[in-house]
Amino acid sequence: MNVFTSEKSLNERLSFSREQGNSLGLVPTMGALHQGHLSLVAQALKENNTVVVSIFVNPTQFNNALDLAQYPQQLTSDIALLKTISDELLIFTPTTQEMYPEGLNTKTYAFNGLDRRWEGADRPGHFMGVGTIVEKLFALVRPSRAYFGQKDFQQLAIIRELVRLKSLPITIVGCPIVRESYGLAMSSRNERLKPQEREAASVIYKALQMAVKKVSAKKPLNEITRAAVKKIHAVENTSVFYFEFVNADTLEPLEKLTTLENTRIITAVDFKGVRLLDNIGL
Ligand code: PAF
Repeated sequence: MNVFTSEKSLNERLSFSREQGNSLGLVPTMGALHQGHLSLVAQALKENNTVVVSIFVNPTQFNNALDLAQYPQQLTSDIALLKTISDELLIFTPTTQEMYPEGLNTKTYAFNGLDRRWEGADRPGHFMGVGTIVEKLFALVRPSRAYFGQKDFQQLAIIRELVRLKSLPITIVGCPIVRESYGLAMSSRNERLKPQEREAASVIYKALQMAVKKVSAKKPLNEITRAAVKKIHAVENTSVFYFEFVNADTLEPLEKLTTLENTRIITAVDFKGVRLLDNIGL
């Protein structure tokens, strides 16, 4: 397995790949890998000759020191898991010093308002941290395609906006959410929940599914939202941060549905102190 801890060693390997005219895919991750990440890697392997998977827990996207301290880190098992997919992957595991040689500073981006609501409103500075690290990784790897999960729907929209803002020649591929058999969207944060808690947290997906059904039954949006939040709150230790119908491009909240195609329901729920995100299209 090719594991690179420095920009220099990765770049030596990538120059060789570039000289061969190979297409390059990047899967940025923060580790604690699960089947959702593996689906991104599998898609990247289908579409590119060379695939880099980065594993770096980016401190600047955590606005809460406890959340950063509790973020699961399991590099050895992550590398073993990647090996089950392919021996050819290039795994980049930089140090914080390597990624932030001048200290933990973030850039400021005008993300066209996409960062102001939802996760951006609840976690100040989060998307500036995401933008900073993703732009660094893009500059370093120079991929033709980069792969992100749709679970972090707002992040995906912001990364597309980053690429547009900076006119980067990178195709952003948004990959479908991978779920546990009982419906919970896979996430590294699920590691912090016990198995029976994870099953209970599947109420989030059930509430999203119920909302979609109620849209088909032409119920008003505020009534649907109230019913969905009530359903989630019926499970102990849950608190809904938001459950909203939004325009899938602008992420602006919708009061009425004009189109089904471009509408997404997004939600964030605190479950036993763990922030769980999910979303569904109509
Ligand atoms: O989605 C994540 O795991 C992170 O936000 C990302 C995109 C790897 C940036 O640190």
